[in-house]
Amino acid sequence: MSGPARIQLDRATFDPWKIQAVTHRLSDHPLLQLDALVELGKRLAAKRLVRTHSADATAGTSFADAPSLHPNRKSAEETLAGIHDARAWMSLLNVQADPTYRALIDEILTEVRPVVDGVDPGMCYRAGWIFVSSPNAVTPFHIDHEHNFILQIRGTKRLYTWDPFDREVVSERGQEAFHDRHSREGVVWSEAFRARARVFDLEPGLGGYMPSTTPHMVENGPAPSITISFTYYTDATRARELLYRGNARLRRLGIEPRPVGASPARDRIAAAVLGGYSAARGIVRRALGRGVRDNTQPYAPA
Ligand SMILES: [Fe+2]
Repeated sequence: MSGPARIQLDRATFDPWKIQAVTHRLSDHPLLQLDALVELGKRLAAKRLVRTHSADATAGTSFADAPSLHPNRKSAEETLAGIHDARAWMSLLNVQADPTYRALIDEILTEVRPVVDGVDPGMCYRAGWIFVSSPNAVTPFHIDHEHNFILQIRGTKRLYTWDPFDREVVSERGQEAFHDRHSREGVVWSEAFRARARVFDLEPGLGGYMPSTTPHMVENGPAPSITISFTYYTDATRARELLYRGNARLRRLGIEPRPVGASPARDRIAAAVLGGYSAARGIVRRALGRGVRDNTQPYAPA
């Protein structure tokens, strides 16, 4: 690494479970300009790593169903090259699947890792996501598993975020369904949420850090926008997922589980037990030739 980290993070105040503003120096990076992204879009479209919908999606549109409810019928190349008039939202998925962009993901996350590791060790499952969207396009309300540095490269957008522990916005059951079945059925938009959001007015050079399962929604400004997210798991995000999956299992047995976080000491013991169980189950499944999702690998699989 040469020079200071391109995402500026304050070691003294960084808290892995708190939403916070960051600044960055990536807006002029050649790999993040539209001409480079048109080429990347062509390569990723061949691998089916493009997600897109039209600008008709709203905050309350189902995040999972937006591409089928509001299809964008143009190709990735056509959409990206003509993004100003495309009336489209496009996400280039798992850009670490492309060797050139994997190197960028690695460089940037390696730069922040010393600060992150100090309070949140075990960075793995690195990934990158690049969002290119037309004026006024909206990203529907949703949550994701990964910790996320989201950085504005071009244009402006308003990023609405809600505390990942705000159970008025996403209930404990909603969190549980997400971790257990990757279902967002309990992540349901209400206009009333706007009043309790932490809002970031992003422009090039500005960004935010969103912990795992931070509810968020994005409204594009009046110009085309380019945004990149650098994401990862840590020991703590994996433990949290295990705890919710354990709670879902208890619920299926007819036992009402205690909310995750209600007792940190109990959570630590439960995560250790569930981690042992999950590792043992993985060994058995591998021995039987069945698939195992390994969430400790260095990169998210595309
Ligand atoms: Fe997201």
